[in-house]
Amino acid sequence: MIRGVILAGGKGTRMGELTKVTNKHLLPVGPYPMVYHPLKKLTGAGLTDILLVSGTEHMGDFVELLGSGKDHGCRLTYRVQDEAGGIAQALGLAELFCTGSRACVLLGDNIFQAPLKPMLDAANARPDWAWIGLKEVHDPGRYGVAELSGERVLSIEEKPANPKSNFAVVGIYIYPPDVFEVIRTLKPSKRGELEITDVNNFYLKAGRMGYSALDGYWTDAGTLDSLDVANELVRKQTPTW
Ligand code: DAU
Repeated sequence: MIRGVILAGGKGTRMGELTKVTNKHLLPVGPYPMVYHPLKKLTGAGLTDILLVSGTEHMGDFVELLGSGKDHGCRLTYRVQDEAGGIAQALGLAELFCTGSRACVLLGDNIFQAPLKPMLDAANARPDWAWIGLKEVHDPGRYGVAELSGERVLSIEEKPANPKSNFAVVGIYIYPPDVFEVIRTLKPSKRGELEITDVNNFYLKAGRMGYSALDGYWTDAGTLDSLDVANELVRKQTPTW
């Protein structure tokens, strides 16, 4: 069994006045609020039990927008992240929701063209591994960066000054049920967050890490510039859900 998790918390400090009174994930990308994109990807891949994590400030807006999930063909559960303590901390809140199940985790500000199903199918061959998505980009230093040797991931560094490759780790992660034990061992990084890259490096060192190279376009939409890019990409080519 696999459950969907959408992480839509965080500080939203990179969006200026646009997020003064609303949440980044409620801003428009194409004809939809941003959060519809990860939601449609998960439901499009057949996932029906989905948890959305966000902060206290805008949780009411998410509930008003998405409700029980019935209009989207899924069952939605909501959990509050009190403070933006990092992606791994936000995922930690999914522990009870995921009891005994694997988790397919999408960052709420990641917009991509390809359907999720092929990556899920690939990950299903190794249910006790973590599975990440990779995409070649021209500015890898903004992201988690994977060093590769053929089919193997050798290392992952978070926002490195000297990236070892052009392969960004995208905000699509599939984890086995023991991910919550891994999260409990993490210490905050220099930016004061529990880092998803540390989770990924745990699986990498344990020899339990696979990846899928993502087809089609991919961008985050977490800055003013990348929000523009996301809108342009979606206008040109509607994603496949
Ligand atoms: O977009 C992909 C990148 O996302 C990865 O390559 C990086 O390895 C990963 O660390 C992350 O980098 P960012 O620094 O861009 O992440 P950001 O802080 O913008 O958060 C991304 C999403 O995660 C955002 O849409 C909301 C959610 N989030 C984030 C934090 C810090 C939470 O739900 N709670 C949080 O505390």
